[in-house]
Amino acid sequence: MSQDALSSEAPSGRTVGVPAENFPGERRVALVPGNVAALKKAGLSVIVQSGAGTQAGYSDGQFASTGVELVADRDEVFARADIVLQVRTAGANSEAGGEDRGRLRDGQTLIGMCDPLIGAEVMQDIAGRGVTSFAMELLPRITRAQSMDVLSSQASIAGYKAVLVAAERLPRMCPMMMTAAGTISPARFFVLGAGVAGLQAIATAKRLGAVVWSYDVRPAVKEEVLSLGAKFLEIDIVKTEDKQSGGYAREMDEEFYRHQREAMMKVIAESDVVITTAAIPGRKAPVLVTAEMVKAMPAGSIIIDMAAESGGNCVLTKAGEITIEHGVTIDGTINIPTNVPFHSSQMYGKNLTTFLLHLLKEGALDGAAGDEIVRETMVTRGGEVVNARVRDALGLTPLEQSPEVAASIETSSAGEPVESEIPAGKTSADVTVDQDNLADAPGDSDTSSS
Ligand code: NAI
Repeated sequence: MSQDALSSEAPSGRTVGVPAENFPGERRVALVPGNVAALKKAGLSVIVQSGAGTQAGYSDGQFASTGVELVADRDEVFARADIVLQVRTAGANSEAGGEDRGRLRDGQTLIGMCDPLIGAEVMQDIAGRGVTSFAMELLPRITRAQSMDVLSSQASIAGYKAVLVAAERLPRMCPMMMTAAGTISPARFFVLGAGVAGLQAIATAKRLGAVVWSYDVRPAVKEEVLSLGAKFLEIDIVKTEDKQSGGYAREMDEEFYRHQREAMMKVIAESDVVITTAAIPGRKAPVLVTAEMVKAMPAGSIIIDMAAESGGNCVLTKAGEITIEHGVTIDGTINIPTNVPFHSSQMYGKNLTTFLLHLLKEGALDGAAGDEIVRETMVTRGGEVVNARVRDALGLTPLEQSPEVAASIETSSAGEPVESEIPAGKTSADVTVDQDNLADAPGDSDTSSS
């Protein structure tokens, strides 16, 4: 790194560094040109590894035109950045990300998807390097955090794309057509789990003209499913209204799942496409689609198992693979958003920018404890793992709450109205329709050329 390069940094502000993603097949980038103005306004300077946005449709020229400094050398990005922004980092990129861990340095801040509960050991390693890290997966699903919620923005895109992939492979058309050559009946879709990804899948399948059925353990979702024009499968099992925590569903017992599988047999056997999105955070996905159900589906039908990475909702799913079983294609693709890299980067970049500005406002990069959003996403600081859930995953005892944190919790609960948890699925609709929120600066709108 040259002395000139060092002296070009803003003297008082911090430097944000964006390396190219190196997870196999990853085409997204953590920041897009449209995010830069807001960061500069906050006194930050931005460096981006040359070519980092190319696969997502954001050229070096577009970044440069917003005042970003392009840096050819990955080592230099890490060496100069005070804050490193990534899509997949730490535990979410355990193989290719291993080398990057050697590039991290004491006092640096790392923000991205870290898979901190499964990759807890990696987080411990990062703690040992003196890095303050934030895992975006741990963001609480509360109203105030919606615009920072990367899981929702990416799941929404994945739900949309899953339907297109299924429609493309299906040996039939989706809409009903009355033609001189006869009447074509519409394709039948079943969307299992109507959270963020599921609701977007339903909306997309309806737009294509398919007949769509859905089921979710949370009865409250029924209204949203019906409002999208789909049909809700009624299953007469225990009331599950209270089976929700932090905006997500809780795990049910095996008896419940057995009953659910029986009740879904008929609708799955009659479906041309099944999209499964049933998930419980931090747990293995419930197995809800059996081999018998797959066998009963029409030949040429398709299952897109979006929960593949966490074990799969279908017993025959192989994570990261597309297989054919009993004449049915079972798609266990684990990184669907990478196949819509322009918009997934645009949404991810907006989420991260809002989050970073929030950290600055809360003084979280200057040692302050910060609010609920900061506390729940911060995984490492001061050489140790500070997050209670990650400590638990590592078998470590909880840290004692500092007087500063206790005081800040007291202040926020006294001074602010209690925040509502967002039911799973709610965020997606908000993120999807909030166009102003997404394309609010030149360089990240749909019309920008790459
Ligand atoms: P979410 O938490 O918003 O929705 C999950 C839904 O599943 C909730 O509505 C929940 O009530 C429901 N559910 C839980 N147990 C159920 C059961 N037994 N039967 C029916 N519904 C049940 O999660 P989100 O964001 O929609 O993600 C869904 C899944 O998609 C997750 O596994 C996530 O990791 C995965 N995903 C996969 C991607 C890929 O590229 N393959 C990309 C993005 C998300």
